[in-house]
Amino acid sequence: MAAEFPKLVLEKSMSMFEDAKRLSPGGVMGIRRPYNFVQGEYPIFLDKGYGGHIVDVDGNDYIDMLCAYGPIILGYNEPEINYEVIRQITERGFCFSLVQPIQNDFERRITEIVPCAEQVIPVKTGSDATTLATRIARGYTGKKMILRCGYHGWHDWCVENHGGVPGETLALTDEFEYGQIDDLERKIEAHKGDIACIIITPVGHPGAKPIIPPPPGYLQAVRDIATKEKIVLIFDEVRTGFRVAMGGAQERYGVTPDLATFGKAVANGYPLSMVAGKREFMSVCESKVFVSSTYFPNSLEMVAAMKCLEILEREKVQDSLWSRGTRFLADLDRIVKDSHVPATVSGIPPMPYITFDQAANEGPGTGGEKIYKARREYFYTQTIRRGLFIQPYHHWYIAHRHTDADLQKALWAIGESLELTMRKFPAK
Ligand SMILES: Cc1ncc(COP(=O)(O)O)c(C=O)c1O
Repeated sequence: MAAEFPKLVLEKSMSMFEDAKRLSPGGVMGIRRPYNFVQGEYPIFLDKGYGGHIVDVDGNDYIDMLCAYGPIILGYNEPEINYEVIRQITERGFCFSLVQPIQNDFERRITEIVPCAEQVIPVKTGSDATTLATRIARGYTGKKMILRCGYHGWHDWCVENHGGVPGETLALTDEFEYGQIDDLERKIEAHKGDIACIIITPVGHPGAKPIIPPPPGYLQAVRDIATKEKIVLIFDEVRTGFRVAMGGAQERYGVTPDLATFGKAVANGYPLSMVAGKREFMSVCESKVFVSSTYFPNSLEMVAAMKCLEILEREKVQDSLWSRGTRFLADLDRIVKDSHVPATVSGIPPMPYITFDQAANEGPGTGGEKIYKARREYFYTQTIRRGLFIQPYHHWYIAHRHTDADLQKALWAIGESLELTMRKFPAK
């Protein structure tokens, strides 16, 4: 029978957080704030990472299945990438008033890999890329409205917390439900004649809700409507790019958008993202649409990306993530079912997840509405105490350097934590 594990020692993290709150509003920003985990149970400051593990400032070692929210597709501290990056720093440098030749090499590589990529614009963050893609679509069509589905970053047009954003800006975007073609059709009808683009994550991954793999025919139906209505179709592949297949979700699911945005996994943690797409649309950036930033051409990230792409291909990383992830998801499903905890396993093999449900007799008006939240908090308390770093409100990732032993330990931690959760908060 599983027993509760003691609370972790997190003294240094907590003391650094007190300092941080004096130095910066809220201490740390956005998704790294303690309320996104279990407050008081999770570390706040990390010391280092290696392979599929992270170590916090108090010396606690975890199997990390959040992977820095997605960029770590290989693992932490990859020696081959470190070597190339250090060589670039010491032999050439990486920040100049002009571009370095590696930019051509990187862009050429992307056009070879990504189905929609006839041209490429490297930028730095996922938000840069999604914002640029929507600007290209508006520049190309001369239309204003953006129909969006999924998380696309923190910029004004798509930020989920509306503080500081003018209503006029928000009124120029409308959201539709993933997987429901009728809903998209209704939104197109409502804004007919004024829509610049549809931007959609090809796999549905709404925050804190089950992941939705593309229903059969759905992405093709979105493609067909966009073509028919002359709306630019953008796949936001910031999470799926280089992860679900070398050429992203567009390769795996066989539907090619007009433009696509990538970030995260392309450079295993170095800040590099991009818009890739068909020349017809991209060419508005030759003169009409402006894009420039001091750091966009910095080469260090491109050096890291070239090596990362080489390793992804050489070690057939996506095949391995897919086959190991398939086994992981099947084991997860069995463990959750055996536990009888009201929870749903969802995901695609490289991106597994559990969400906690309201059981039928815990719905509105039963007095049990909040019990799923208590189960969730207790479960994640038990998993972090067992050395598994996962996030309650965000799906998890499998990284290439997670060993089979890491994944077995993760399943053990999840199994014991579910058993304890069921004992503490039984479902009838
Ligand atoms: C699908 C998607 N698009 C865009 C972004 C924004 O990327 P960034 O946080 O690098 O700005 C994210 C970040 O999580 C994302 O998941």
